Amino acid sequence: VTRSRIVGTGTYLPSRVIENAEMAALVDTSDEWIVERTGIRRRHIAAEGELTSDLAVNAAKQALESAGIDVQAVDLIVVATATPDQTFPATATRVQAKLGLTHGVAFDVAAVCSGFLYALTVADAMIRAGQGKTALVIGAETFSRILDWEDRTTCVLFGDGAGAVVLRAEEGQGTNDDKGLLAARLHSDGRYNELLYVDGGPGSTGTTGKLRMKGKEVFRHAVTNLSSVMLETLAAAGLKPEDVSWVIPHQANLRILEGTAKKLSLPIDRVVVTVDQHANTSAASVPLALDAAVRDGRIKDGDLLLLEAMGGGFTWGAAAVRW
Ligand code: ACO
Repeated sequence: VTRSRIVGTGTYLPSRVIENAEMAALVDTSDEWIVERTGIRRRHIAAEGELTSDLAVNAAKQALESAGIDVQAVDLIVVATATPDQTFPATATRVQAKLGLTHGVAFDVAAVCSGFLYALTVADAMIRAGQGKTALVIGAETFSRILDWEDRTTCVLFGDGAGAVVLRAEEGQGTNDDKGLLAARLHSDGRYNELLYVDGGPGSTGTTGKLRMKGKEVFRHAVTNLSSVMLETLAAAGLKPEDVSWVIPHQANLRILEGTAKKLSLPIDRVVVTVDQHANTSAASVPLALDAAVRDGRIKDGDLLLLEAMGGGFTWGAAAVRW
């Protein structure tokens, strides 16, 4: 095996939608403030009893359907999530069971908003090492359960959802024209815990806790780290920003997307934007944006995609994919 290739994508968004105007009834905010500062217009929120694994399973089924692959062919499931169903076992094992699978490997990856980039990179490495041939790589989150719904500086920014891809082992020539993952680069720097974290967990309060964020500081780091890892990833594949057909970014804030595109001298119309519809869905946002652009026909055969994300930790990463 020389490469892994994305052969199917899927989306699941809970049916309940909360518009900005409805947020303004909960906290002291306004549609104008949220749109102007973030680009967000609405978010989906999971129903009571609708778990991260349920969202993940629905997205996974759609991805398998679009790939035309039978679920029994799946031998690796990697779920990126910061909102697991239970502290343990891994949500991926719940997904495995709900899909009716009893073989293969299933585990979670915790890198918050960068989780999908981490999961994709790990699954790719495992496929190339011969540990599996057909992987489900899923980003699934129910951040609504870790939000402080009285804190207007954070609760307006996030939503729930899941995105999935089917990643399959492929033989190739080992060139940049081969379809599949060309290069990926990941980073973390644990100094920044206090800028973005959840104030709970078994080791601290013994409760689930709530998300806490110093948004302005996170914003500053985001544009710098993202543009640098995007350039590093392209360079690792011998490519340049002008080769990129579509940037598929983590969707935190429209201004971060604009700032990052500008640093790479890429026009904003080559960046896939879903933050207006979904808000920040953490690990789900990259596969959700990818699926949206695949389904509406924007992404075409042979396109070069640059996936990128940054999140709590800090963690950040990017991946170059030939479609
Ligand atoms: N509605 C109305 N007013 C608000 C709201 C709100 N929802 N939230 C904050 N404000 C007020 C603040 O209290 C402040 O008022 P003050 O000047 O009287 O103190 C004012 O608006 C400005 O607040 P700032 O925090 O300076 O606003 P800023 O322009 O920095 O925007 C935001 C805040 C949207 C959080 C921005 O910093 C941001 O997006 N940061 C990135 C963080 C992020 O997206 N993290 C996600 C995870 S990490 C990642 O994915 C990259």
